[in-house]
Amino acid sequence: MKRIFSGVQPTGNLHLGNYLGAIRNFVRLQDDYDCIFCVVDMHAITVWQDPVELQRNTREVTAAYLAAGIDPKRNIVFNQSQAPQHAELAWIFNCVARLGWLNRMTQFKEKAGKHRENASVGLYVYPNLMAADILAYRATHVPVGEDQKQHLELTRDIAQKFNHDFGVDYFPIVEPLIQGEATRIMSLRDGSKKMSKSDPSDMSRITMSDDAEAVAQKIRRAKTDPDALPGPEVLDDRGRVAAAAEAARPEAFNLLRIYAALADKSLAETLTEFEGSQFSHFKTVLTDLAVATLGPVGAEMKRLMADPGQVDAVLAEGAARARAIAEPILAEVQDIVGFLRPKP
Ligand code: TRP
Repeated sequence: MKRIFSGVQPTGNLHLGNYLGAIRNFVRLQDDYDCIFCVVDMHAITVWQDPVELQRNTREVTAAYLAAGIDPKRNIVFNQSQAPQHAELAWIFNCVARLGWLNRMTQFKEKAGKHRENASVGLYVYPNLMAADILAYRATHVPVGEDQKQHLELTRDIAQKFNHDFGVDYFPIVEPLIQGEATRIMSLRDGSKKMSKSDPSDMSRITMSDDAEAVAQKIRRAKTDPDALPGPEVLDDRGRVAAAAEAARPEAFNLLRIYAALADKSLAETLTEFEGSQFSHFKTVLTDLAVATLGPVGAEMKRLMADPGQVDAVLAEGAARARAIAEPILAEVQDIVGFLRPKP
């Protein structure tokens, strides 16, 4: 069976974008693939994290996985730091990847910003650790959003160079599984910005732990425009919103996409359904749907967060299964590289 690896960072404020763009898709993949879903705490500390918050956020991502419907018996659910093979392989990849490759990473440039000299070295080599995450299990497929495509390209380059440098055909060249149209969820206050955990306004995002009242309030106050909703004529022949139409009404299309994703409908169907409607009517329907779909997930997360023992047990069991896969792979890699180790 094909093997999937994916990860979510435990950095707090899990929101609708994480749910619709990543976690909900993971749930759907578990029938067709052998899946490993990781909480990447080692990636999180590339930017300083309060230790108590990091523990809490690690449990929260785990709770979100479970509440969304990922079955920890059929799949492996664990936190990255419990499998030391990630760090071991990352070191080897630090010696395979080239400075020039990392210098091209746009996410590092964005995250480091103007204070590049002050960024952690870990933030710089973050993509090498991500490659190690995936290849420590020789995973073949990785579901990621658009923003991670470049990192996945780097993973392919590292695998290729490793295979070439050592004259082996050991690591697979991974394939991205880019998810559908609903993955770009924008801020509720500004349709031109991505919904983000770090936006100072709580009203800009719906979080996975918001209760019904908070969800309703955020949708009611979400930014709109004065016009009635458009119909399917705004779509081009590939089913995408024409650029000019999108730029003129980013908030309207964001809310329509959120509706489509939650209702599991295409954008075309959604546009047909609400063509000519006022926002007041549309927001009422959207609120009901959001509360009905997100409410049970939030409630289950809350229950799990109140039972950290259960969450920690899932992580411990998942980590043992993860190590059992990664250990022999690392041993083979050590042989390939020429590291001496005792043979059984
Ligand atoms: N970098 C990813 C993100 O921020 C998280 C991640 C870490 C990941 N390791 C991974 C995703 C391996 C897919 C596969 O979203």
